[in-house]
Amino acid sequence: MTTTLDEAPLSREAMEAFWLPFTANRQFKANPRIFTGARGMYYSTAEGRQVMDAMAGLWCVNAGHAAPRIADAIKRQAGALDYVSSFGMSHPLAFTLATRITAMAPQGIDHIFFVNSGSEAVDTALKIARAYHQARGDGRRTRLIGRAKGYHGMGFGGLSVAGIARHRRDFGPLLGDVDHLPHTHHPEHNAFSRGRPAWGAHLADELEALCQIHDASTIAAVIVEPVTGSGGVLPPPVGYLERLREICDRHGILLIFDEVITGFGRIGAPFAANAFGVTPDIITCAKGMTNGAVPMGGVLVHRRVHDAFMEGAPEAVELMHGYTYSAHPLACAAGLAALDTYQEEGLFARCADISPVWEAAAHALQGKPHVVDIRNIGLLAAIELAPRPGAAGERGAAVLRHCIDKDILIRAAGDTLVLSPPLIISDAEIERLFGTIAEALSGLN
Ligand SMILES: Cc1ncc(COP(=O)(O)O)c(C=O)c1O
Repeated sequence: MTTTLDEAPLSREAMEAFWLPFTANRQFKANPRIFTGARGMYYSTAEGRQVMDAMAGLWCVNAGHAAPRIADAIKRQAGALDYVSSFGMSHPLAFTLATRITAMAPQGIDHIFFVNSGSEAVDTALKIARAYHQARGDGRRTRLIGRAKGYHGMGFGGLSVAGIARHRRDFGPLLGDVDHLPHTHHPEHNAFSRGRPAWGAHLADELEALCQIHDASTIAAVIVEPVTGSGGVLPPPVGYLERLREICDRHGILLIFDEVITGFGRIGAPFAANAFGVTPDIITCAKGMTNGAVPMGGVLVHRRVHDAFMEGAPEAVELMHGYTYSAHPLACAAGLAALDTYQEEGLFARCADISPVWEAAAHALQGKPHVVDIRNIGLLAAIELAPRPGAAGERGAAVLRHCIDKDILIRAAGDTLVLSPPLIISDAEIERLFGTIAEALSGLN
């Protein structure tokens, strides 16, 4: 069985210099997977294969690949203003994009700090949280609380609050004053929930327990993905986020939603905060912000957080933080065109409309060999398989290979199959995707 999508036009030597991220490099270079084009739901290869992208790139190409408006906007912007720093200067598109994104966020969240990735968004949010307390004369609040199974990018800040041991293992001491909430994955209580599980809101009370251990007055912020993404697609139990919000309010702790995956329509609303009706103090976003076309991220902050920084002398820099490419003109142009595309094609509403079809197709796999849990929300799904005894990850890898052989690209996190397609996926494509997975499962030992 081959897992190669294409005979690479590149020799082994030509591939040597590129050290690929999150990749088994030697294995990849022996058996490369190279795409040469993409449009809509499909990647293409040099030999003309059309491969369905059931991951929207890496949870980012929400409008489908090569959306024409976005491609045109990038081209035009590159010829008009290729670069200007945002340190003490700027350009018009940055302000327009900030206004439009904040207009989509829950009420009260009305400022955005631009960065270039999800990782930078998270590290920036954590710094803003600490600096916010500092600005208010409460500098003792430095502790950060993450959650088990959380993924917050690969900066030292994000890694410190993350909850996936294998990601943290090799990098020495991380931030010291960090603790973690437990995750919400308890198949014995909530397997095969459709959408948000009914069981598990009480797990948020663990934050109260952490307040008892650390003293709430030392805690700066709690950061969670409203729907755990890379850790295996875990929608929040009904009432869970509300409880986190209440506990944070009671103790003066900032609540950060990491919406790098859930932002920009993935669960049928601009942000998960809108969808769930829970307003955090800070939202991080990236990925779908430009439909993946140009790297960009953002940190959305509530007015009261922003305003706490605006009390000092007006000539003083309020936040000693920023990046060379913050609000890059090409990214802003892509971001505005992405928002236009989402709006014109009604993609957030489309996601909400088609998600019952998606849910039914995903849960139709219940009862297939080795399936121990199925989770879904919006256009996200995870199918969890029991690991083969003594060979964890092999079943997930086998399904992945089968799908690739059938020209469908999915993701496997160990034995959990993860799906996150562009929001333009059709009913027929949903049927083909889950049908192919069903086929793979039927033949799996
Ligand atoms: C929730 C979350 N936060 C942060 C990140 C990091 O984003 P990036 O890879 O753009 O740095 C990711 C990436 O998948 C993510 O899913």
